[in-house]
Amino acid sequence: MVEPIVRNKDEIVRIKTHIQGFDEKMQGGIPRGHITLIAGSAGTMKSSLSFNILYHEALLNNRVGLYLSLEQSYSSIINHVINMDYDLTKINLVVVRELSQLPQEVEKVNASKKGSLIIVDIGCVRKEIKDVRVDENRSWLNVLKNVVKKIKEQSRLDLFVLDSMSALHTLSKFKNPRIEIFYVFEFLRDLNITSFVLTETPLDGSKIGDFDEDFLSDGIIYIRLTSYRRKQIREISVLKMRTTSCDHDTYSLEFKGGNFVAAYGGQNPLM
Ligand SMILES: Nc1ncnc2c1ncn2[C@@H]1O[C@H](COP(=O)(O)OP(=O)(O)OP(=O)(O)O)[C@@H](O)[C@H]1O
Ligand SMILES: [Mg+2]
Repeated sequence: MVEPIVRNKDEIVRIKTHIQGFDEKMQGGIPRGHITLIAGSAGTMKSSLSFNILYHEALLNNRVGLYLSLEQSYSSIINHVINMDYDLTKINLVVVRELSQLPQEVEKVNASKKGSLIIVDIGCVRKEIKDVRVDENRSWLNVLKNVVKKIKEQSRLDLFVLDSMSALHTLSKFKNPRIEIFYVFEFLRDLNITSFVLTETPLDGSKIGDFDEDFLSDGIIYIRLTSYRRKQIREISVLKMRTTSCDHDTYSLEFKGGNFVAAYGGQNPLM
């Protein structure tokens, strides 16, 4: 698909991160169609933050999002977000447990007046790989591409979360990861959807991507843990965002009252 060219900067559609105090620091959000890395060490709330984007985009903007986790099962994701007080009855939540049921599940997206969040359970991806066995090394990537492509062809898919690139790399046993990952990004770009690719970084933040995904992506949002007195606090910053004038300040990332909040930019947290 050919990327649209705007005549005026106001025509650039931006997708909010729905982190209070953060979107306004990047001209209102992430340009539609971008591939953004959500990078951070273990437990920095990468998954929760990306779920939060899809949830609010379905709830407020009637958008359709696909959450594909190669790390967590459907039940693990749902238990986590219910514990965070997300009201899933407010959106059209669609779960794909069997890939053979994909057309019927996608129909539920098309039939709903609400925005939708589709979760593909990792169990059915695993089963498909066992059943098909195209090529041991490439099968995870092939199944993933097929699922996203089919959903895009059959519905108005707007947003996609891949959780995570690190898991895809481990599972796929890429022979030449740089080239494979380049083609994953090309594939996502051609679909003309806005993508969030989660990636695990070392605790010391010494590198963002292992295989050039930092160069290939349009944006990088980085979450780190920082010691403050005897606490570990989460901090968030935009390292890169193409087509966007942004503030590269570091904010504390908090989840309170059911919302993500970016606070204390440029200052020590007032704790
Ligand atoms: N209700 C809640 N409010 C605030 N924080 C929560 C809540 N429930 C869980 N958490 C925190 O969320 C963190 C895990 O979030 P999440 O799974 O999104 O992180 P992640 O970066 O994706 O982790 P992983 O590296 O394991 O994939 C936990 O460390 C937990 O303390
Ligand atoms: Mg996670």
